[in-house]
Order: sequence, then C-alpha cells, then structure tokens
Amino acid sequence: MTSAPNEKPVTLTTLQCMKRDGVKIACLTAYDASFAKRLEEAGVDVVLVGDSLGMVVQGRESTLPVGVSDMLYHMSCVARVTRRMFRVVDMPFQSYATPEQALGNAARLMSEGGAQMVKLEGGAVIVDTVAHLTRRGIPVCGHLGLLPQSVHKLGGYRVQGRDADGAQQIIEDARALEAAGAGLLVLECVPEVLAAEVTRSVSIPVIGIGAGPDCDGQVLVLYDMLGITPGKRPSFSKDFLHGADSVPAALAAFVRAVKGGSFP
Ligand code: KIV
Repeated sequence: MTSAPNEKPVTLTTLQCMKRDGVKIACLTAYDASFAKRLEEAGVDVVLVGDSLGMVVQGRESTLPVGVSDMLYHMSCVARVTRRMFRVVDMPFQSYATPEQALGNAARLMSEGGAQMVKLEGGAVIVDTVAHLTRRGIPVCGHLGLLPQSVHKLGGYRVQGRDADGAQQIIEDARALEAAGAGLLVLECVPEVLAAEVTRSVSIPVIGIGAGPDCDGQVLVLYDMLGITPGKRPSFSKDFLHGADSVPAALAAFVRAVKGGSFP
C-alpha cells in the first residue's frame, strides 16, 4: 500500500476517530529518513522515534545512556521526510525529572526536532509533569506496563501487572494520565486481559506492544519486526521480513496484519 503524496496527515483527532470507529492504529519505530519514508509509503499511521535507538542503533545494553541530543538528531532525520504519519518522540531517561526540565526538553524536541508529541514513561509519579506540558500545548503520550527506563528498578524486562494490585495500579495510572491531558498511551508487556481493560477504561487511544490484540493499535521496534536486531528478540515480536521479498513488502504486511487483526 503506497500512500498518495496528498493523503491527509494523521493527527491526534484522526487517532481518536480510529479508536471510536474500531480502526486499528499501525505504529512502528524509525530512526532515520530512509526507513521513515518507507514506513510512510507502507501506510503506517504513527512513527515513534523511540529511545530503543540506544539498543538497536547505538548497540548499548539499555536505553538509559540515550540523551536529548541523540533524540533530537534522530527525530529531525525522520521529521525531514515525513508528511503524513503522526510523529512521536521519546523523552530520554531523566530528561523529564522535573516539570520545568521536561518543558524545556519537550519544547526542543518539537521546535528543533519536528516531533508532534512527546512520550514519557511512568504513572502517578509523572502526572504533574504531564499536566505541566499539556497545559502549555505540548501533546503527551504516556507509557505504562514495562518501562525500559526503569529496567534496573524492575529487575529486568518482565511482564508487568500480573497480580491484582499491579493491574489495578496500571488502570489507575492510565486514568490519571488521561485526566492530566495525555492524548495517547503505549502499554508494554502486560497480560492481554489487563490491556483490554485499560483500553476500555480510557477514551484516549492505547497502542500495545506485547499486550495482546485488544488495544486500539500495535507498535513494534522496526529492527525487531525486520528480524535484524542482533541477539534475542522479544517473544511477542514477529519477523515480517521472513517470507516477504523486500523491506517495503514486510512493512506493508505489518500494516495489513494490524489493521486486519491477525497480529498479534
Ligand atoms: O523506545 C521504543 O522504541 C519504545 C517502544 C518499545 C514502544 O518505547
């Protein structure tokens, strides 16, 4: 599926309407212009310049060493060629430790980097920061469940919200983020039933990763879904290049699978 050059840009309103109408949102990460262009041509709705770039591009062990200057560089590479996809960027580790610091860094990621929304990891503890940003016109995407920036606190990359208290906390955090003005939510590595409940509990679109089929959309790390991430890839990911004859065909297969409900 190749997008026509004059196709309307995806906005937060578009994503809201997709949730309302039950049209699944296809999201992938990208970190450079060439891949971003291919994602757009394949019909991806949302491009996430994730701090996963620390691991898949920079070869680091976690996302923690990634800085604002890295995100600015990769975000601007993607923004330069993107016309239709909605552009979300990760705020890296400790770049939003206070509301004021978050505002300064988010403003740069938008004005210099060309992001249209910033993504922050965490629940109750960042609600004031989210409100600080959204009241000043900065769109925010929340991120709950497995928080890669907290990997050392969590004791590894593990499924979150397995017990009743953990699950309830994630539901309450999702509601609190929405009340603070978040416009989108990424939910990573939680049980399917919990993801379905979170998706029903909030009116903002919920994009899942390793969270089952009932979220409003799906996101994968680009290099995982092309099968080129070195070492062990997450079990919930799928190699869409396997059996496809090109990268554009693999990207189109991902979009078809998400929209058609066959992935995950
Ligand atoms: O950094 C990233 O790529 C992400 C996705 C895993 C959702 O946050």
